[in-house]
Amino acid sequence: MLPRSSLIRVVPFLGTLSLAQSPPSKAEVHPMLPTWKCTNSGGCIVQNTSVVLDFEYRDIHTISGSTSCKTGSASSLSKSQSDYAAKGVSTSGNSLTMYHYVRNNGRLDSASPRVYLLDENTGKYVLMSLLNQELTVTVDLSSLPCGENGAFYLSEMTADGSKNPSQNNIGGATLGNGYCDAQCQGFCCNEMDILEANSQANAFTGHPCKGNNCDKGGCGYNPYASGQRSFYGPGKTVDTNKPFTVVTQFMASGGRLTSITRKYIQGGRTINSGSINSCGSESGTGGLTGMGQALGRGMVIAASIWNDAAQNMAWLDSGNNGPCQTGQGSPSNIQSQHPDTHVVFSNIRWGDIGSTTK
Ligand SMILES: *[C@@H]1O[C@H](CO)[C@@H](O)[C@H](O)[C@H]1NC(C)=O
Repeated sequence: MLPRSSLIRVVPFLGTLSLAQSPPSKAEVHPMLPTWKCTNSGGCIVQNTSVVLDFEYRDIHTISGSTSCKTGSASSLSKSQSDYAAKGVSTSGNSLTMYHYVRNNGRLDSASPRVYLLDENTGKYVLMSLLNQELTVTVDLSSLPCGENGAFYLSEMTADGSKNPSQNNIGGATLGNGYCDAQCQGFCCNEMDILEANSQANAFTGHPCKGNNCDKGGCGYNPYASGQRSFYGPGKTVDTNKPFTVVTQFMASGGRLTSITRKYIQGGRTINSGSINSCGSESGTGGLTGMGQALGRGMVIAASIWNDAAQNMAWLDSGNNGPCQTGQGSPSNIQSQHPDTHVVFSNIRWGDIGSTTK
C-alpha cells in the first residue's frame, strides 16, 4: 500500500482536496495478432485480436520501489506494462513468434513465455466455441530440437480471467489472469492440446475434467507412437524443415463430440493424419463428451514454448514416442546447442468445418 500522503495533497488556497496524479497508469499495449472467424456462407472475417502474456510472467511493482504487488490492489499498480520483446514474444502481421531464450546483457535468460488470445474490442479473452467447428494454424517448428515443446492449445479459462483463486485478478484478462489447465495449474479445467510439438515429434491430446477430476494423461494421437515412423520430421511426409498448416476438426453428431481429426496442409498438399475417437472414462473425467461440452461452451487459445528438466519431453519425442535419444532434450543441451530455438504460429482461423482453408 502507498502512504496516504502520496495520494492526497491539501491545496490550501482553495481549501479542497485533490487527488495527486500518480504516474499515468497506461493501459498495456498488447502485440496485435489478427485472426479470422470463418463461416461457409460468409467467408472469413478478420478479428481485432492480440496476445497477452500470462500474469505470473510479469514484473509488477508498487509505484515507488520494487515491491511486488501482484496481490495488491489495482490502484497501487504503476508498472503493468510488460516488455514483450524481453519476454521473447513478438508479432508481425498475423504471425506470433516466441523465443525460449532471450539475450540480456550478454546473458541468455530463459523466458519460456506463455500467451493468450485477447479480444481487443472487449478486453476479454476470445472464447472459441469449437464443437462441430475447426481450428487452423500454420506453424514453423524448424528450430525446435528434441526436448523443446512449441505448444498451441485451448484451456477453459473464463473470458474475464477471473477464476484463479490464487490471484487477485488485477487487470483481468488484459493482464493475463486466470490461467487453468488439466494439470490443475491455477485451477483445474478442461484442456485441449491442439499441438505439442518440435521438429521431431508431435501430438494432439484431449484432457477433459469433471470438476477437479482431470484426465492428466489425456487421450492423444502421436503419429510416431502410432507406428508412422516416416510421417513427421525433417524431410518426412510432413516436412518440419518448412512451415505447415495444422487443421483440427471437432466433429459432432447430435450435439455430442464424436471425433477430433487432424490433417496437415503443406506446399498445397493436404495430408490426412489420425483422429481421437474416445477419451477415457465418460463417468470419471467426462470423456470425449465432456471435452465436447467444454469446446461448445468456448475455450481460450494459449501458446507457449517450454522444455523440462524432469522428463526432457520424453513423453512426446523419445522411446516409443519419437526418434529422440534419452536425455538428448535436456534444457542444458537445448540452451547450449539451440539457444535461438523459437516457434512461429500464424494465420489462426476458426469456424465451420471446411471454411478455414478455402
Ligand atoms: C481494435 O482494438 C483497439 C483497442 O481497443 C481499438 O483502438 C481499435 O479501434 C479496434 N479496431 C477495430 C477495427 O475494431
